[in-house]
Amino acid sequence: MSRPRVLVTGADGQVGRALLSEFAGSAELIGCNRQTLDLSSPDQIRARLLAVKPDVILNAGAYTAVDRAESEREIAMAINGRAPGVLAEEARKIGALLVHYSTDYVFDGSKNGPWVEEDRTNPLSVYGESKLAGEDAIRAVGGPYLIFRTSWVYAPEGKNFVLTMLRLGRERDSLNVVDDQIGAPTTAGELARATYAISTGVLSGKFGPETDWAATYHMTCGGSVSWCGLARSIFERAPGLLAGRQPSVNPIKTSEYPTPAKRPLNSTLSNEKLQHKFGVKLADWQQALDEVLKSLANRN
Ligand SMILES: NC(=O)c1ccc[n+]([C@@H]2O[C@H](COP(=O)([O-])OP(=O)(O)OC[C@H]3O[C@@H](n4cnc5c(N)ncnc54)[C@H](OP(=O)(O)O)[C@@H]3O)[C@@H](O)[C@H]2O)c1
Repeated sequence: MSRPRVLVTGADGQVGRALLSEFAGSAELIGCNRQTLDLSSPDQIRARLLAVKPDVILNAGAYTAVDRAESEREIAMAINGRAPGVLAEEARKIGALLVHYSTDYVFDGSKNGPWVEEDRTNPLSVYGESKLAGEDAIRAVGGPYLIFRTSWVYAPEGKNFVLTMLRLGRERDSLNVVDDQIGAPTTAGELARATYAISTGVLSGKFGPETDWAATYHMTCGGSVSWCGLARSIFERAPGLLAGRQPSVNPIKTSEYPTPAKRPLNSTLSNEKLQHKFGVKLADWQQALDEVLKSLANRN
């Protein structure tokens, strides 16, 4: 397929933007934000997909306010839990590839070592529950789908930990950051690059029939770190983005930073299945962080 028609939901989000930029030039892109395709409306989803008839649907839209979801279960469930199933049904009807993103928060964090795809899910939060419901809905429909579970996503723009730390680092002399939750910080850019490589491979038949590849995969940057370790790395690697001095970063426990939603202590995902099936590996988290910090420095 020379120039596939690719519909991106959540086009204004971190991953949505990165996907639009990665696929630009080699696809006919239809970027949809909440105004042009509201994922909480099954009717809108069906009508839009019928009108556009895309070859690929990249579902980057989601309800991502993890703490707010605790008090907004119904809307989180509609967007994260039910919309993916509707997308999968329509994708199957028109023969489109559905790429969907899910989260490390489907696990409870209790494992010693990286989680593999077959490990038992046990979300601790409404957000995690809603994302798991979305995965289950897609798997129940079947068809040509790819579910990529990722973690700790950030980009040079958007709402994310890296930008928050840089802002607080400019404002304060010292910060308390949680040190007992570990995971793999992953850039939207790395996710977009991997998604492009895999989806173009799928469309060209490189990976065989859908029965060979339609499944759930973990997709994160390599390595792992705590939030506290990540904050320290940001400050060490980007002195030029601070206010002329390094803030000190004090490690604290999750119990000292209570939030409405409970988060897994160990979020690290194994990427072996992705590498084995598609030969695709994302950069290590430090290298990907440097790329984002460089892009931020170039804007200043
Ligand atoms: N961010 C993370 O740390 C993280 C970690 C693991 C997995 N993921 C998954 O990765 C995917 C991409 O996340 P992201 O980091 O790019 O999140 P994001 O920056 O919050 O983007 C999500 C986008 O979805 C849009 N959206 C929300 N409700 C919608 C609706 N009813 N209809 C249409 N669009 C709607 C949002 O629009 P508004 O701005 O208007 O709300 C936003 O543009 C999601 O599936 C997320 O669950 C993210």
